[in-house]
Amino acid sequence: MLSYPVSSIAERQFIETFGLSESSTEKTFAMETLADRRFIGAVGLHGIDWINRHSALGIMIGDKQYWGRGYGTDAMRVLMRLAFDKLNLHRLWLHVYDFNARAIASYERCAFTREGVLREQRLFGHKYHDTIVMGILEAEYRALGDARA
Ligand SMILES: CC(C)(COP(=O)(O)OP(=O)(O)OC[C@H]1O[C@@H](n2cnc3c(N)ncnc32)[C@H](O)[C@@H]1OP(=O)(O)O)[C@@H](O)C(=O)NCCC(=O)NCCS
Repeated sequence: MLSYPVSSIAERQFIETFGLSESSTEKTFAMETLADRRFIGAVGLHGIDWINRHSALGIMIGDKQYWGRGYGTDAMRVLMRLAFDKLNLHRLWLHVYDFNARAIASYERCAFTREGVLREQRLFGHKYHDTIVMGILEAEYRALGDARA
């Protein structure tokens, strides 16, 4: 959730340079619909720590009409496969605001666990909200078996 308006120039630049990064600690991917290959959002690993083998995870579907249709959960699972099966990471984590019930439901569906709470860290709508820390370990991912597909 952005705190400031985004200029059209910055937005265009984001789209044009999206996916061009050669950074070893940032891996971002476009999300497309299978049927018509429409670009609906992005998912990525941020600040990958190759020594301790963990990474933050971020996801965003820009077009609201694509929310709640399973795309986010699907993309999360693809990213988890990449992170644990190919990149040999040990842990993935993310921050989510307490009022983002859709995101929390999607992460729980992907077996992310609530690990902690950053109390009243977000001011939104004249009210302070908690930020929830969620994470999943490699062993928890492996224990999902067929359910991780
Ligand atoms: C968060 C986000 C990536 C989730 O992707 P999505 O495709 O919308 O989510 P899915 O359809 O895969 O799953 C949503 C889950 O929430 C549930 N859900 C849908 N609408 C809901 C709502 N209004 N309130 C609570 N739960 C809801 C669904 O039932 C589903 O759970 P289930 O699989 O157990 O039935 C997407 O909604 C998004 O990009 N939102 C805006 C940006 C954002 O919040 N990013 C995350 C920041 S931490």
